[in-house]
Amino acid sequence: MPKTAGKMNSIMGKDSSTNVISFQERLLKRTPLIVKPTKDPKAAEPRIIAVSSGKGGVGKTSIVANLGYVLSGLGKRVLIVDTDLGLGNLDVLLGITPKYNISHVFSGEKAIGDILVDGPGNMKVLPASSGIQALTHLTDLQMDFIHKQMLRIVSSFDAVLIDTAAGISSNVLYFNAGAQDVCVVVTPDLTAITDAYALMKVLSIQYGTAGFRLLVNQVGNAGEAREIFNHLELVTRQFLDVSIQFMGHILKDDNISKGVRSQKMVSDIFPRSPASECFKVVARQIYDTMENQTR
Ligand SMILES: Nc1ncnc2c1ncn2[C@@H]1O[C@H](COP(=O)(O)OP(=O)(O)O)[C@@H](O)[C@H]1O
Ligand SMILES: [Mg+2]
Repeated sequence: MPKTAGKMNSIMGKDSSTNVISFQERLLKRTPLIVKPTKDPKAAEPRIIAVSSGKGGVGKTSIVANLGYVLSGLGKRVLIVDTDLGLGNLDVLLGITPKYNISHVFSGEKAIGDILVDGPGNMKVLPASSGIQALTHLTDLQMDFIHKQMLRIVSSFDAVLIDTAAGISSNVLYFNAGAQDVCVVVTPDLTAITDAYALMKVLSIQYGTAGFRLLVNQVGNAGEAREIFNHLELVTRQFLDVSIQFMGHILKDDNISKGVRSQKMVSDIFPRSPASECFKVVARQIYDTMENQTR
C-alpha cells in the first residue's frame, strides 16, 4: 500500500480495507478518485465524469448543469463541481449565490462539506471562486489538499459531474486525470475540434488516459455530430493511442441562451425544447451505464 494511503484513510475515517491510492500514483496511472472498498465489492462507487474541451465557450458549463439536473430527476444523487477555480461561473448559470466557495476551503475557513449548496432539482453544487488568480494554477500541495477534501464528500453521491476550465492548464489536466470518464465537448467550429484533439493528446501522453467520450454540442442535426465524431475518431486512431466513444449530441438551441439570461437551465424552463430532449437522451445513457455498473 502506498505510504500516503494510511494517512488518507484516517482523514476519511475509513478502515484499511478501503483501497485509496495516492495522488501521484493516481495521476500517473489515471486511477479514479476513489476505489471501491474491497470488503464490499457491490458498494456503489460514485461515477466521476469530467467535462472538458480545450476551447472555451463550447458549452461545458451548460452541459454539466443540464445533465446533472436531468440525472438528479432520474433519482441519482448528483454533485456538480465547478473546477474553474479562478473564474468559476456555474453558480451564475444556476442562478445561485453561494456565500462560501472553494477559496474558503483553501484558506481553512470552511470544510468542504460546509460549502456545498443546493442547486436546482436535488443537485448539490460545489462552487468555485471568481477572480482569485492564485487558484488558476494550483501547486502540487494544493492539488493534494483538494484531492483529500474531495475524498471526504464524493462517496455521498452517485454521480459527480466536474465542470472544468478552458485550456490545458495543470488544473484542467488534474481534474480530468482523476475522473473515470473524460467527456470531451466539441462543436462544429474547427478551433473547437483542434483544441479537443490537443486536450486528448496531452492527457494521453502525460497521464496515460486511454479512453474518451465525445459529446458534440451546438449541431444542426445528428448526422453532423456523427461526421465530427468520425473525423476525430480517425485522426486519434491514426496519431494517438486512445479510443473515443460517441456519447451523443446536443442540438444548437437558442433556448439555452434564453435560460442563461434568466439564470435558469433550459431543461428546467423549456423541458421540451430541442436541447432539453438531447440532454434527456445523454443523461439516460449515463444513467443506464451507472445502473449496469452496480448490477
Ligand atoms: N447547444 C447550444 N445551443 C445554443 N447555444 C449554446 C449551446 N450550448 C451552449 N450554448 C451557449 O454557448 C455559450 C457558452 O456556453 P458555456 O456553457 O458557458 O460554455 P463553456 O462552459 O464551455 O465556456 C453560452 O452563451 C451558452 O448559452
Ligand atoms: Mg464554463
